[in-house]
Amino acid sequence: MTRKIGVIGMGHVGSTVAHYIVAGGFADELVLIDTNEDKVVADATDFEDAMSNLNAHTNIIVNDYTTIKDADVVISAVGNIKLQKDNKEHDRFIELPFTGKAAKAVGEKVKASGFNGVFIDITNPCDVITSMYQVFTGLPKERVIGTGTLLDSSRMRRAVAKELSIDPRSVSGYNLGEHGNSQFTAWSTVNVLGRPITEIAKERNIDLEKLDEMARAGGYTVFHGKKYTNYGIATAAVRLANIIMSDARTEIPVSNYREEVGTYLSYPAIVGKKGILEQVQLNLTEEENEKLKTSANYIKTRFESTMK
Ligand code: 2OP
Repeated sequence: MTRKIGVIGMGHVGSTVAHYIVAGGFADELVLIDTNEDKVVADATDFEDAMSNLNAHTNIIVNDYTTIKDADVVISAVGNIKLQKDNKEHDRFIELPFTGKAAKAVGEKVKASGFNGVFIDITNPCDVITSMYQVFTGLPKERVIGTGTLLDSSRMRRAVAKELSIDPRSVSGYNLGEHGNSQFTAWSTVNVLGRPITEIAKERNIDLEKLDEMARAGGYTVFHGKKYTNYGIATAAVRLANIIMSDARTEIPVSNYREEVGTYLSYPAIVGKKGILEQVQLNLTEEENEKLKTSANYIKTRFESTMK
């Protein structure tokens, strides 16, 4: 069975996604698409140079939407880094004027290709663009997924792990809602050292508000130093692609459509070959449910105004 992935948008994020896929040997065929033909051809040649020093071989196809028809996964990493330069409010919606148009154009081409796999969106503002891709690709909601707060949850785990001097992989729990400023850490879901962090925070006088802000602002902490992010988001996206291709049926916080709020937002779900297989129901606190509703309403309002 040929493992086939498409990557659309070969900027810092898309090229890092592609590099991780090639270096990890996660795909037998990789379709790379970008409006800058010279760049994407050069990337393909560069990857072929890399292959003689790798264990796995990947057949690379460039700029041909017809070849994504039989792809298992297609990943959108379309973006416009120039729009981020004056982003004082640290708001991912600053890219929407560009990425909203791109989502329509790319979504229609993906639909025309006959693609029938699972579509992963990285492109920001993630939840609104994921919603747009679901409309323009015409794929069922469960097969259009945004990376969402998978990355923010990793940032929360990093912050908690640093505070406790342990491995971030030993921290479990979720950031929920928008991959953006209205997200929040659902501390009721966070466990570490075999116990709820809320108990440990009381005993050790840990400032959870501070850690919550570190997670929410984590993207801009990185952005401040290099004017983009790529490794964290690319690793999250490729992990999600592998979960789909291997039908791992993993519980993971991603942007998925939830009927009860009528919008895409990040909430844990069981993910496998057919996308969202089952939605998880968390026992959130009243305060957390209120924050989720606020975030959902924000995303829904912005999506509806964009689609008008
Ligand atoms: C991030 O937070 C790119 O939105 C992505 O790093």
